[in-house]
Amino acid sequence: MAIAIQQLHPGFVGEVSGIDLRQPLTKDEVVQLQSAIDRYAVLVFHDQDITDEQQLAFALNFGEREKARGGTVTKKEDYRLTTGLNDVSNLGKDGKPLPVDHRTHLFNLGNCLWHSDSSFPPIPAKYSILSARIINPKGGNTEFADMRAAYDALDEETKAEIENLICEHSLMYSRGSLGFLDYSEEEKRMFKPVLQRLVRTHPAHGRKSLYLSSHAGAVRGMSVPEGRLLLRDLTEHATQPQFVYVHRWRLHDLVMWDNRQTMHRVRRYDQAQPRDMRRATVAGTEPTVAQEAAE
Ligand code: OGA
Ligand code: MN
Repeated sequence: MAIAIQQLHPGFVGEVSGIDLRQPLTKDEVVQLQSAIDRYAVLVFHDQDITDEQQLAFALNFGEREKARGGTVTKKEDYRLTTGLNDVSNLGKDGKPLPVDHRTHLFNLGNCLWHSDSSFPPIPAKYSILSARIINPKGGNTEFADMRAAYDALDEETKAEIENLICEHSLMYSRGSLGFLDYSEEEKRMFKPVLQRLVRTHPAHGRKSLYLSSHAGAVRGMSVPEGRLLLRDLTEHATQPQFVYVHRWRLHDLVMWDNRQTMHRVRRYDQAQPRDMRRATVAGTEPTVAQEAAE
């Protein structure tokens, strides 16, 4: 089988065929997919009926598994998945949709806000690899925004203004903007804000991206309201339709994206019905700005 790629959006997103992700990849396949993810920023694979172990093995071709400090309010003993994948479903340990007032469910609703995965630890995530195991009958599309194209389209004055800005990112900002405001002392320590540059340069091709995320809640050197207004304006700019690809999930789709040059969000769906999505996350290799490592 030979890999073939069809571009799905004028600016980014490649639909990849001619590869079975359940099998170990050849060196040449890894090289081809690596250059494809650099270029397209989002890769879509269909008909990949994959196990958690195979999904993780696929991810490890592109770096190490992210073991970031707490990206969740769910206690380890309540995890549904114990395979090392992130559970992005609406399901509890019993395999049923979580009650609508369940804390884990309320927290997970934050995925409906535009974000970049794991921008809240000092070394943010590189790739996310999401597999659709159960499709929800209503809604649940995932949208991706090309943050390189969004950056390029800014006027020169704005580019100069934001070039060296540093933002504070925390899960408490994204969840807080939805009214999820109650955290234990332990969670507050775990979700302590970290610093990220607002403009980052991609190491493979050197294009600049807006590094935005709903986790960003303050800009260094600005008052909180002024910083948040700037972030809102930039997010509104970056998520205009011309920069966005909408993914309509089919069963066993697998989508891989580069968090360093895209944002994404899931749209609302029927919470009474299951939606089982599982994510392997590939760790980043360096912070975007020097800071003390989290304890
Ligand atoms: C994620 C995420 C969106 C979805 O896995 O990081 O935001 O469609 N998922 O479930
Ligand atoms: Mn996400």
